Amino acid sequence: MYKLVIQGGNALHGTIRAAGSKNSSLPILFASILADGPITLTNTPHLSDVSTTLRLLMDMGAEFILESNNDLFVDSSKLTSLVADYNLVKTMRASILVLGPMLAKYGEAKVSLPGGCAIGTRPVNLHLKALEELGATIEVKNGYIYAQADALIGTDIYFDQVTVTATENVIMAATLAKGTTTIHNAAQEPEISDLCNCLNTMGAKISNIGTSTLTIEGVKSLSGVKYSVCPDRIEAGTYLVAAAITGGSITIKNMRHQSMRATLGKLIEIGADIKTENNSITLDMKGRRPKAVNIKTSTYPNFPTDMQAQFTALNTIADGHSSITETIFENRFMHIPELSRMGADLTLEGNTVLCKGVKSLTGAHLMATDLRASASLVLAGLAAKGTTTIERVYHLDRGYETIEEKLKLLGAQIERVQD
Ligand code: UD1
Repeated sequence: MYKLVIQGGNALHGTIRAAGSKNSSLPILFASILADGPITLTNTPHLSDVSTTLRLLMDMGAEFILESNNDLFVDSSKLTSLVADYNLVKTMRASILVLGPMLAKYGEAKVSLPGGCAIGTRPVNLHLKALEELGATIEVKNGYIYAQADALIGTDIYFDQVTVTATENVIMAATLAKGTTTIHNAAQEPEISDLCNCLNTMGAKISNIGTSTLTIEGVKSLSGVKYSVCPDRIEAGTYLVAAAITGGSITIKNMRHQSMRATLGKLIEIGADIKTENNSITLDMKGRRPKAVNIKTSTYPNFPTDMQAQFTALNTIADGHSSITETIFENRFMHIPELSRMGADLTLEGNTVLCKGVKSLTGAHLMATDLRASASLVLAGLAAKGTTTIERVYHLDRGYETIEEKLKLLGAQIERVQD
């Protein structure tokens, strides 16, 4: 097991390149099942969630090659097994994205139920209901989803709640359905638009991309494609906060600022100077202490739940009082007790954290619990006085490509060490 050891107190300065988006890469890799030929993806990040997705596809008969130029060549066009096994699904909830494509292409699928996770129960009822509305017969028994459909038929789907991966599952299923599907109350995350753009390049007919009402006209088949995955707005946001929490300055290249309005708005509110160009974002804190900001997570284009933990860390050392309200996942506060052990003044009341900014944190021995909570502990460690040790860094490797290397480039004192 690896841990990260951080000597806090260095202001971060420098330029890094944003990685490709995790939450785009995963659905697009699963969409490869729909294609009649191989797909080549560029800009995919090196993450354990990407490896898990590839292992799941390989288990079912897909082949992949990581080319020397980092392009990922994936051929999932002729699966030999239509079973997504518990052992892989349990490690990554996004594995549920295998369901829509398998059902659409092969008319059947057996997929393990993903189960709960550290940030909440995270049911998949909305995925199943929408696929049933498209004509699938679904039975859940022995911890598996058994889905079958002689033909999926396009229809109107109304989501009771905005959900990212259920929207993606339905989009993928509907691309090969008979007739037209309209998804109402669809999630509008940029990663969904990326998936739609990729599918359209494969021959799908999806319109109103980027809105909450998506229209998908079913087609007979989809072809292979070469596609570049969009940059990761959550990774970029995390490094912007790393510079802000240490009073430093950073430029992130290969990043589209348009997808980060809510995050950038909050960074301006904390007192950062932000400059955006076509393909880059620059933040300069000029050594200032951040001002406390109130946060309320919501669906895109509002403030993302995936940035909540990082801004909580920022608020712990900010000037003033703040409240942070989580509206998407009921239990996304695993970082609170750990930040408190570093001297943060945080009180959890229902789904809101009340924070009184302290002048500084002190290093401590911490336990990472989930992906973004772990990121917030790294950020706090960068700002804290003394040494912070973070155990269970495998959570970070799910969503951050070589985090310690990128932070070192910016001047952080951080090492990955083995127990
Ligand atoms: C995706 C993202 C994740 C992000 C989240 C919210 C990926 C791979 N993951 O997760 O990083 O934090 O969106 O932006 O893209 N819900 C149900 N029933 C369902 C589905 C969802 O009740 O069938 C609830 C969830 O419990 C949650 C809310 O809907 O409270 C939103 O979850 P959802 O958007 O589905 O999250 P994910 O797609 O799992």
